[in-house]
Amino acid sequence: MLPSRIAIFPGSFDPLTVGHVDVIRRATTLFDRVIVAVLVNPDKQAIFTAEERVAMIAESCGGLGKPGQVAADAFEGLLVRFAARHNACAIIRGLRSGVDFDYERPMASMNTHLASDIQTVCLMASDRYAHISSRLVREVASLGGSVTGLVPPSVEALLLARLKGETKTHP
Ligand code: PNS
Repeated sequence: MLPSRIAIFPGSFDPLTVGHVDVIRRATTLFDRVIVAVLVNPDKQAIFTAEERVAMIAESCGGLGKPGQVAADAFEGLLVRFAARHNACAIIRGLRSGVDFDYERPMASMNTHLASDIQTVCLMASDRYAHISSRLVREVASLGGSVTGLVPPSVEALLLARLKGETKTHP
């Protein structure tokens, strides 16, 4: 039997967007298992804790692909160490634009330098999601704008609950 092909999809996911979900779904057509890895970064202030982000990914993406094909976990430190621990052969990243490419290129090279057997596989963002980022979702939500359709419904509810009281209403 062929060994299973495991891919890691790392990121901050603060919060998970429908663009992330689309990349995860498409990755399940390429790899036997997709592990969504939430970076624990104590230096960066996040809306959701890493545990909350892992839970929102498990809820929104656990049903993608075949049963058990998608998992979510948190990681600290070097991504390639996490990938090696899980016997992953690939790191998945989504690309929306040239700006993303410029951000990804050095990270991919560094990860290849650290672990030459792990390939970085970039998936082009689907056209309908190319304008969506966690940063813009946070900004729109915190300014009282609608994020319906930008994040999964359960994430929208969590985001609105988290921002309740802080939301400024704009016309
Ligand atoms: O969603 P993001 O914030 O763009 O994801 C960035 C992430 C998590 C992929 C990146 O910061 C990362 O891999 N951090 C782990 C630290 C690491 O391995 N650094 C060295 C190689 S670039």
